[in-house]
Amino acid sequence: MYCTQKINEDVFYVGASDRRLHLFENIYPIPRGVSYNSYLVMDKQTILLDTCDKAVGTQFMENIEHILQGRPLDYLVVNHMEPDHCALMPEIVLRYPNVKIIGNSKTFAMIKQFFNFDVDSRAVIVKEGDTLCTGRHTFHFVMAPMVHWPEVMVTYDSADKYLYAADAFGTFGALNGNIYADEVNFARDWLDDARRYYTNIVGKYGPSVQALLKKAEGLDIAAIMPLHGPIWRKDCGWFIEKYRCWSSYTPEDKAVAIIYGSIYGNTENAANVLAGMLAEKGVKNIAVYDASSTHSSVIVAEAFRCSHLVFASSTYNAGIFPPVETVLLDLKAHNMQKRKVALLQNGSWAATAGTQMQKLFEEMKEIQILQPQLTLKSALKTEQLAGFEELAGLIASDLC
Ligand code: FEO
Repeated sequence: MYCTQKINEDVFYVGASDRRLHLFENIYPIPRGVSYNSYLVMDKQTILLDTCDKAVGTQFMENIEHILQGRPLDYLVVNHMEPDHCALMPEIVLRYPNVKIIGNSKTFAMIKQFFNFDVDSRAVIVKEGDTLCTGRHTFHFVMAPMVHWPEVMVTYDSADKYLYAADAFGTFGALNGNIYADEVNFARDWLDDARRYYTNIVGKYGPSVQALLKKAEGLDIAAIMPLHGPIWRKDCGWFIEKYRCWSSYTPEDKAVAIIYGSIYGNTENAANVLAGMLAEKGVKNIAVYDASSTHSSVIVAEAFRCSHLVFASSTYNAGIFPPVETVLLDLKAHNMQKRKVALLQNGSWAATAGTQMQKLFEEMKEIQILQPQLTLKSALKTEQLAGFEELAGLIASDLC
């Protein structure tokens, strides 16, 4: 059965949610599922903005058919060529063979890479500032390269003042009937997933997101229509501010996260002791993560949130304990910068994890390594507590 929602007189939500997928992009756990948004505008000419992932193909095609009510589909706008949004393009072409496909030159190169259908005869190539009038609506095409992929663009409808934002302003999480951010408790129930989505999917490309935010400043936006998660028609500024923060690598909170990798529990004990000392000195909302049991994407998101990070690692094969190393490499890959970092290493005979963690952080921008750096030989001893107190005091003086 079709499952669509009317957004206004002639704009319809025709996307769908997937609660079966375990790993988004086969890497990110999504326990709350994910939505693949798509929007159909029933103007004098009909225009579909993006398709969906093939996992929801049956639902999506029923939705389109229901809204079109026998009318032809005139245009498909391809804002983003990642398969979670373009996978159903061949099916659309098969069912609506006269459809024109709108994209930029990079879009069409990618369509040919992914698919074999005849795209040239359907191609409408647009560039920055080009427009398409379909009757009541005029769509303006705005290039947003590297707001995930190089071909990404966003589409602004000056009639409704809707910004069809591609991956920007998206989030993990299936839509549960409510398709608007103002119909859910976004700050309580969605923000962590939105941060995890942004930081892991787009976080590497902060300058590109900043460039898009600058372009968006010049638009009068009544609603942001992302390709994942709820639509923003109220308080857009609140979410845009989050994007400003994340894309500039500015810590969202004055807060500390302690990430540890511990083989037999001694490094974990040291992390707990430090957390307790921080609490005694007045630090609130301390976050502690075991890198072995916490998905790296969660820690990446927390690193974007927190101003202070403590990494504690056992030495393993003369290097960093692999689960911690995975997180550090992930942070580097996502351009992590502008943080204060404390390091703790453990090694029963030759502790080297600390030096190697420091080396990785030195390859990131504007990272301040806090002193003292702490070393355990197998387990924390009483005589080492003074060093822990000193480090806890330094972090607490920043945060309290
Ligand atoms: Fe939701 Fe970059 O795809």
